[in-house]
Amino acid sequence: MRKPLIAGNWKMYKTVGEGVELVEALLRDLGDTHDREVLVCPPYTALHALSSLLQETPIMLGAQDVFYEAQGAFTGAIAPGMLKDVGCQYAIVGHSERRQIFGESDELINRKLRAALAAGLRPILCVGEIKPQRDAGQAEAVVVGQVKAGLAGVSASELLNTVIAYEPVWAIGTGDTATPADAQAMHATIRGTLAELYDQATADQIRIQYGGSVKPDNVDELMSQPDIDGALVGGASLKADSFLRIIQFR
Ligand code: PGA
Repeated sequence: MRKPLIAGNWKMYKTVGEGVELVEALLRDLGDTHDREVLVCPPYTALHALSSLLQETPIMLGAQDVFYEAQGAFTGAIAPGMLKDVGCQYAIVGHSERRQIFGESDELINRKLRAALAAGLRPILCVGEIKPQRDAGQAEAVVVGQVKAGLAGVSASELLNTVIAYEPVWAIGTGDTATPADAQAMHATIRGTLAELYDQATADQIRIQYGGSVKPDNVDELMSQPDIDGALVGGASLKADSFLRIIQFR
């Protein structure tokens, strides 16, 4: 019922040429993807070239961030409509690196998310606690707070175009994954929050991805959890063989 979404977040890696090479390798060995969706989120600079390459293929294109205004004097920012124009279907918002390094607040992330939806992009809202919050038993409260703030003002029909990614910050790029049981527990909490904010039938349709050191050797167990509907993959999405194995999770 919920088609899992396997997304590669390339972060600030890959030139245009390197991105083309990676996508060509993915397309060559992609195999059957009828029961899953595949997405790559390269840096802005590679979007245009990859968009042509990905046309009429099963791999979708997304951006790693988006701004909330349609145009104007916003040096360095990229508008939702520009991402649509270049062929993006998705945009990540609120990644923990945006929150921590670029100081993005829940309010800013909410504006970006609503602007993405209004432009017809599907946002992937990232949420996740940092280690001291988990150690202090605050993980659930932090994540629920981020989900609620991120979705403020979003209607149920808009929510259907939204993906949530639970990424415990201490698991990102560290090789330290949440156990499948801990991840499942948080995903169930997030789905419960969606049911409370909207209704159970809507909550049951929303995809909740797990992210944080997803690798070929842990993807199958993570994906076997009932509330884990895909993966947001950083490091392991940068090489064709590891990302292909993750795409082909069983
Ligand atoms: P990682 O990154 O897979 O390298 O841990 C995940 C992410 O930041 O989305």
